[in-house]
Amino acid sequence: MKVLVVGGGGREHAICTKLKESSKVDELFCAPGNGGTAAIATNVDIKATDVDKIVEYAKEGSFDLVVVAPEDPLALGLVDKLSAVGIRAYGPSADAAVIESSKAFSKTLMKKYNIPTAKYELFDDEAKAIAYLDTQEAPIVIKCDGLALGKGVIIAQTIEDAKKAVHEMMSDHKFGSAGNTVVIEECMVGPELTVLAFADGTTAVPMISSRDHKRALDGDKGLNTGGMGAVTPGADLSEEDNKRIYDTIIDPTMKALAAEGRAFKGTIYFGLMLTKDGPRVVEYNCRFGDPETQAILPRLETDIVDIFEATIDGTLKDIDIKWKDCCSCVVVAASGGYPESYEKGFEIKGLEACDHPVFHAGTKKLDDGKIVTSGGRVLCVYGEGATLDEAIDSAYEGLAHISFDKMHFRHDIGRTLG
Ligand code: AMP
Ligand code: GLY
Repeated sequence: MKVLVVGGGGREHAICTKLKESSKVDELFCAPGNGGTAAIATNVDIKATDVDKIVEYAKEGSFDLVVVAPEDPLALGLVDKLSAVGIRAYGPSADAAVIESSKAFSKTLMKKYNIPTAKYELFDDEAKAIAYLDTQEAPIVIKCDGLALGKGVIIAQTIEDAKKAVHEMMSDHKFGSAGNTVVIEECMVGPELTVLAFADGTTAVPMISSRDHKRALDGDKGLNTGGMGAVTPGADLSEEDNKRIYDTIIDPTMKALAAEGRAFKGTIYFGLMLTKDGPRVVEYNCRFGDPETQAILPRLETDIVDIFEATIDGTLKDIDIKWKDCCSCVVVAASGGYPESYEKGFEIKGLEACDHPVFHAGTKKLDDGKIVTSGGRVLCVYGEGATLDEAIDSAYEGLAHISFDKMHFRHDIGRTLG
């Protein structure tokens, strides 16, 4: 098979690594890819959001399968466009991807189908949002409706801060048009958990659970980032807990989307909070998480091509998805300053000495073979073990080999609630 992966982060490197292990894959390409995918696939210099060019490239190259990983091309309808020209593509249609690209849509869906989530109100008028805040108590959560790279969420500790956040989103357009509508919602309390599931429109098969660490600094301090590390499993869940998550959240969401004519195929991401009243949805995403995927996929024992094909064909219930019995951890090495401004172009040293899987994100391979930094999250190092402690220690042992100027990482991945 000839396979193209769309995207260029650590998640895409992990997906490429898994595809490379499949005996069914003969040729592997990644657009645009990064310094890590360059070693196992042919990088193609097309941006993930340049959907027309990707369709043209995939058609001309007669690809057998295109895996669309990031949210932007999914929201732009890349899977629909590929399917329209007869190319098999893994990922949701734009109609289903809206669960991530519009928080207003997903909150309304959850309310309509009684899927547990935080109580909320939607506003497209700043004065009304401010007046509403005067009737509320802090802490309170302000979110912009559209895509904002995980940064459009403010947990305001005072009503004054909440008003400031609303003003920045709605008048200063801090997140562009993503902030034209804002969601103001109840602040939930409890450990967070990520559950990804393979979905074929009808059936959703949960993967092993994971926990992401979103804040930039140790002790869950600093700004929200795309994710600084992740562990699997994400929590010590009993069979009953898993059943409750499936019965009250995963299955009803699949049914709700199908009932709305937006049947979901691909990876559906449930960002959950385990509150004292039970699991509740914080957010949906329409794709694999990053860096959760880098902690999850190395544990997958089933051929990923069989899973991708089954989601496209609607036959997931016929396959038995198996996972390695262990715990895992990934720690992200980022450019100092991330998620705000940072420098790029520093040589990454120690990659050869590191005997752990390393998933590249913001890296670039130069003509002389050197790998340099080219983004905020640079790479992550994977470790596994029989216990979570062993997995965490293993990831940090691997990371100790790697260095670059102004490298920043958290020292407490897996040791805090996220
Ligand atoms: P989101 O982009 O919606 O996932 O939000 C990013 C992060 O903000 C989440 O992972 C949570 O840590 C936090 N968050 C979002 N919504 C809430 C909420 N209603 N209550 C408490 N924390 C929240
Ligand atoms: N790690 C969070 C996300 O992928 O959205």
